[in-house]
Amino acid sequence: MTDKINELLRRVEEFKPKAAAEIEEFRIKILGKKGELNALMEEFKTVAPELKRELGQQINRLKNEASARINALREEWQNAAADTASSDDDLTRPGTSEHLGSRHPISLVRNQIVEVFSRLGYTVAEGPEIEDDWHVFSALNFPPEHPARDMQDTFFIEKDPDILLRTHTSSIQVRTMERQKPPIRVICPGRVFRNEAISYRAHCIFHQIEGLYIDEGVSFADMKQSLLYFAKEIFGEQTAIRMRPSYFPFTEPSAEVDVSCNLCGGKGCPVCKGTGWLEIMGCGMVDPNVLKANDIDPEKYSGFAFGMGIERIAMLKYGVKDLRLYFENDVRFLHQFDEAL
Ligand code: PHE
Repeated sequence: MTDKINELLRRVEEFKPKAAAEIEEFRIKILGKKGELNALMEEFKTVAPELKRELGQQINRLKNEASARINALREEWQNAAADTASSDDDLTRPGTSEHLGSRHPISLVRNQIVEVFSRLGYTVAEGPEIEDDWHVFSALNFPPEHPARDMQDTFFIEKDPDILLRTHTSSIQVRTMERQKPPIRVICPGRVFRNEAISYRAHCIFHQIEGLYIDEGVSFADMKQSLLYFAKEIFGEQTAIRMRPSYFPFTEPSAEVDVSCNLCGGKGCPVCKGTGWLEIMGCGMVDPNVLKANDIDPEKYSGFAFGMGIERIAMLKYGVKDLRLYFENDVRFLHQFDEAL
């Protein structure tokens, strides 16, 4: 038996693992429940009593030696693993930078416009993209069969009753008047749909922001001042505006708003087609018929409304010449707006 013990001791001393996993294998083989040490213990039970003392000491020594050796090996391998990891990871190397996504230019401009009007006390209202005839046309003073309905080429989903994709976010203004009594001060951003041929200057989907302000004694001068403030905030302090008479069924009087061309400063250039002015939105005093249709007393209240295409504002602001770029999501185009964050 002494020979067996010595033989095992020698193996423990000579054990040289080639991988960390081998240490654990070796431990199970020697010290495990069914391991060689336990087998020796079994045999030990059967030896003559006079040999027990001597053999018992030898077995104990073997046990201690084996555990110590295994623990030492384990530590050695752990340190080695940590060493190789840190030598692979050169902490002084510059990091690989992850490219962060950026906001879409339409979102950037939308947020800017919302921010400017929120400073004037407007809150944001939203509404459904699939609408009925009442909210898009009838409540806005478009009589049935009125040719003004053709101004906006509508995508119909169902006929009688008409269900359609909203052609402007004025529908949200109607929904706001249903819910809320004056004073009302909302801006309504959203996606709108018109059946137009897609080109560099028109798309069947685009984004609008419309605004509505109703209170006692709201005047055309209030509208003009608010829109001038807006234009200066978006296009710069030197910006001027002018209004040209126009027509919308839901406003009377109505106007188109132009801003002075921010490229040539009003002198005339290809972008403003030599006029020095760029058209940016429609506006007007809310037609009394619209107030009546929405249960607001036109004798007591007046208001103004305005509406603009976000793509158009973004094109003018960033000098983008083709509207389709906003919808193609080509990252080379979108990356140019990273800085704008
Ligand atoms: N709803 C109009 C459009 O889509 C814009 C507008 C809104 C004009 C409010 C006047 C007042 O073209």
